[in-house]
Amino acid sequence: MGDQQEHDVLVIGSGAAGLSLALHLANICRVALVSKSSLSESATLYAQGGISTVLDSCDSIDSHVQDTLVAGAGLCKPDLVRYVVENGRKNIEWLINQGVEFSRKTGIDGSHDYHLHQEGGHSHRRILHAADSTGRAIETTLEEKARRHANIQLYEYHTAVDLITTEKIDKPGHRCLGAYIYDQKNDHVRVFKAHFVVLASGGAGKVYLYTSNPDISTGDGIAMAWRAGCRIANMEFIQFHPTCLYHPHAKSFLISEALRGEGGRLILEDGQAFMHKYHPQQELAPRDIVARAIDNEMKRHGHDCVYLDISHKPAAFITEHFPTIYKKCLEFGYDLTRGPIPVVPAAHYTCGGVMIDDHGRTDLPGLYAIGETSCSGLHGANRMASNSLLECVVYARATFEDISDTLGAPVDAAVIPEWDESQVTDSDEEVVVSHNWDEIRRFMWDYVGIVRTTKRLQRALHRVDLLTSEIHEYYGNFRLTNDLIELRNLVCIAGLIIRSALLRKESRGLHYTLDYPAAESSTVAQDTVLHIGRVKNGSAAA
Ligand code: FAD
Ligand code: SIN
Repeated sequence: MGDQQEHDVLVIGSGAAGLSLALHLANICRVALVSKSSLSESATLYAQGGISTVLDSCDSIDSHVQDTLVAGAGLCKPDLVRYVVENGRKNIEWLINQGVEFSRKTGIDGSHDYHLHQEGGHSHRRILHAADSTGRAIETTLEEKARRHANIQLYEYHTAVDLITTEKIDKPGHRCLGAYIYDQKNDHVRVFKAHFVVLASGGAGKVYLYTSNPDISTGDGIAMAWRAGCRIANMEFIQFHPTCLYHPHAKSFLISEALRGEGGRLILEDGQAFMHKYHPQQELAPRDIVARAIDNEMKRHGHDCVYLDISHKPAAFITEHFPTIYKKCLEFGYDLTRGPIPVVPAAHYTCGGVMIDDHGRTDLPGLYAIGETSCSGLHGANRMASNSLLECVVYARATFEDISDTLGAPVDAAVIPEWDESQVTDSDEEVVVSHNWDEIRRFMWDYVGIVRTTKRLQRALHRVDLLTSEIHEYYGNFRLTNDLIELRNLVCIAGLIIRSALLRKESRGLHYTLDYPAAESSTVAQDTVLHIGRVKNGSAAA
């Protein structure tokens, strides 16, 4: 029977969510951990500011919950927020037990407590961090453990193409059975069968021309779940990080919000501060507000960027707390310790995603989704800084517990057909793929960005519909490549974002439209829920 793998659990993605889950599961079963690049390449690897949790004696669970709800602008699920916040500490202790070293500070009494950052929307210092490369500390520590675990089989440079469901192979029942996975090095598609499949494949920032995200963030898990019939929620809420380095070769390198937490000021070219005009918390207002303020100032003055200045702090403080950012800026000719650096907003985080319940279960039995791929109800209309890594580790454990309760149940013995390549040939027009990639990312940036209008969204919808049929036809005729798999997913994600944005007839959190500048006054804010063949916002179906 061809090239078929069989495992207890197939985890697609090896960022904080996938690695944490795989390590929990490996104590009780056999796990396949699939990653479309090297194991460590992920958004997690680049996370800077840190991971939020209540540690300070002045802070409280209630306060963290309340800040998250305020940032989420009426769309967070309050019980769920409380669950995640209450479970933060236990899961962060798990990270520490795995060997993650968070930064400490020495008190005047010689104590050696964890140093905590403060970021936008947080009313206390509650961000645990490893200097300014927290994600790298988490990712590389967990990676090393995963590489050594006998129960984890690693498949790097393997790209999941589509989920295999009973419906897709014409078998009775309604269940996820595995996934078709493209082995990049051997250039062929393999069947991975599993009792449970977990999407931990990250966000979709690459759908925008300017993004802080790495190349792997093409929304593959969301697109696969969509095609398998799962509900996808709140895709209009794309978070734009206010401060990425403005330089043609910097690839929107992130300048952590923690810099503003330590006193960094946003200023215009002439040195004037402006955040006081927009929010009482000024530089530490929730991210949507800061990003829109910068966008507004840039448009008002016709400037290409604004500036971030922390040079009033002692140089030793800056280089100790922000060594990675300091070094990167120097590479581009900017010295953080001596003056302001140019910054612009860029697409950063996908708040929406595959709808899940408290255990990470999706609509499709046997399929889970965790981390940035999912929409759990934690972030609502705007994720608060450093709540994402927290969500990854809390949901990895919740999903592990759910899977471990049901692991012994009998497995579907369905025979899965091999990937059929009999109808396709090698492409002689790969330029179509690169051209369409560029086109999608550019019109998403121009028409579906920080400030939207119905007219611009409709322009984008028209283009995405044309591209969808062109890409669909191309996909049906030519052999797979990694770029083609990603392009097919990107166009799907662009369509989901545009359709969700058009359905929301108000401005809320990260979705701001000039045609409906106020939030809908109804007492209960509604999620935007899309389902294949059925588009729904609250009760309105189209
Ligand atoms: P990722 O870490 O993105 O991992 C996704 C994995 O899925 C990768 O291994 C990838 O190869 C794999 N994958 C994707 N598609 C496929 C496929 N088709 N087949 C196989 N494998 C696939 N959040 C915070 O809480 N604190 C921070 O300080 C912070 N800083 C950030 C800084 C930057 C620059 C960025 C980009 C994000 C930051 N975030 C931060 C957000 C946070 O890093 C991410 O939301 C989080 O790391 C997502 O983890 P994940 O495991 O869900 O996905
Ligand atoms: C940052 O360090 O500013 C990023 C934090 C986050 O995205 O949560």
